[in-house]
Amino acid sequence: MTNLNLPSVYNLIELDLVKSTNLTAKEFASKGEESIPDGTIIWAREQSDGRGRRGKYWSSPKGNLYTSLILRPEIILSESAQLSFVAALSIYDALGNLGPPGHQVHCKWPNDILLNEKKVSGILLESEGALANKPADWIILGIGLNIESYPQDTSFPSTSLHSEGWNTSVEEVLMAFSRSFLSWSNTWLESGFSSIRQNWLWRSIGIGTMIKVELDNKILEGVFEDIADDGALILNQNGKTRRVTAGDLFFSNVK
Ligand code: BTN
Repeated sequence: MTNLNLPSVYNLIELDLVKSTNLTAKEFASKGEESIPDGTIIWAREQSDGRGRRGKYWSSPKGNLYTSLILRPEIILSESAQLSFVAALSIYDALGNLGPPGHQVHCKWPNDILLNEKKVSGILLESEGALANKPADWIILGIGLNIESYPQDTSFPSTSLHSEGWNTSVEEVLMAFSRSFLSWSNTWLESGFSSIRQNWLWRSIGIGTMIKVELDNKILEGVFEDIADDGALILNQNGKTRRVTAGDLFFSNVK
């Protein structure tokens, strides 16, 4: 067992090797709220089948952070995506509190964190039982953060804390994240998504620039105009705006 100093609202389950902490978190969550309460953190040292958004693989060797937070908030389906913005702000702040000065951290739509314009962290939000007007039984907030290593074969450039010269441990990142998540969750509960959205926009990259968004079967191009109230990207294509709810974002002026 590692001696982690997490705020007392969390219930930590620490594991060595799992297929995917999101998968393990779902198994635990389905045991019910009595034994697995809101705020349970599944943390593994390694994953054999780490999963990213849109069915992608998430490279998961030892040395990086793989964690899934089990949440049981009273929110309906359309609001649950807001949690990934709360998590992105929390990762942003955790890195800001830990890193040496002179580095750029950004939130990248929809659920990534960039360090010096390369992806260092991704978020995978999954839920069960949510209906349009019924809260989910649970929401799993999966977070991967590259600390010692990063995959070389990604379509968007990746990096890790160590390769950017940061001497930070997995434990330090998890402790810093857990503290800032508590703080941003309170902001969300007290001030609603508008405050989260505004704070995310201040820390984001690419607003007002030409972008490409890769969907399952096509690529959309246009100007990244804004983020809607539900977290959708607003793309301006020759004066016409359209909402994009899922996809991979690429910047036209970078590489
Ligand atoms: C993405 O950017 O595509 C999201 C990546 C999310 C990866 C994390 S690692 C911990 C948790 N377990 C998984 O299998 N995936 C998430």
